[in-house]
Amino acid sequence: MTRKVIIAGNWKMNKNAAEATSLVNALKPLVAGIDNCDIVVCPPFTSIDAAVKAAAGSNIKVGAQNLHWEDSGAFTGEISASMLKELGVEYVIIGHSERRQYFGETDETVNRRLGAALDAGLKPIVCIGELLAEREGGETEKVLEAQLEGGLVGVSIEQIAGVVIAYEPVWAIGTGKTATPEMAEETHAYIRKKLISMFGYQAEKVRIQYGGSMKADNSATLVAQPNIDGGLIGGASLKAESFAELIKNAIA
Ligand code: 13P
Repeated sequence: MTRKVIIAGNWKMNKNAAEATSLVNALKPLVAGIDNCDIVVCPPFTSIDAAVKAAAGSNIKVGAQNLHWEDSGAFTGEISASMLKELGVEYVIIGHSERRQYFGETDETVNRRLGAALDAGLKPIVCIGELLAEREGGETEKVLEAQLEGGLVGVSIEQIAGVVIAYEPVWAIGTGKTATPEMAEETHAYIRKKLISMFGYQAEKVRIQYGGSMKADNSATLVAQPNIDGGLIGGASLKAESFAELIKNAIA
């Protein structure tokens, strides 16, 4: 099964609107003509409009970093799927480990957000991953299994092919410690096996990104692994040159 590579930049709480415009404008010529990779940038909410406008007519798509499950109402500080759609957002990250760690995200809230994204036609990037203590305790598969089972409740066999899973070992995020390609592939293969047990052959179509200190100098060997279909990139997505180089190496 060939799956189209997807590389997404998660800008986290970086880049105001003016900086988002500059970054997308700098990225555009560097990735122009690349059509065998889905290229996504995920700015903070307040920079989405600027990023969408700057990316118009290019091969760069825009994603959000979160969404609420209700469409409107008394949910101070929250943003709904329809609000994102109105801005031209195509993708949305759900359940990033920083949201799980700092903002009380659980598999249940991930699942509710995922339902809202799918209902609205947004393409979800669902994040899973184990903590260092869980890896060291031999619990990685158990943790990922629970995150997949809890996060994907109610997703249909028809819908699963459109869901992107981002495997981000928490100990590799922003630390410079990347999982070795072999270690990452072993875990991605486990995730694929689990998805197949839940959704059958349609799970072969699910793209599984690796995230955690992916850079221009390791994207090629990571994405060359059979079950690594792209990356979710933090630090290296904040500069046009490093992000473009990472993308080009990944698909070379
Ligand atoms: P880094 O690439 O900075 O390690 O961040 C990974 C990440 O959390 C992407 O969502």
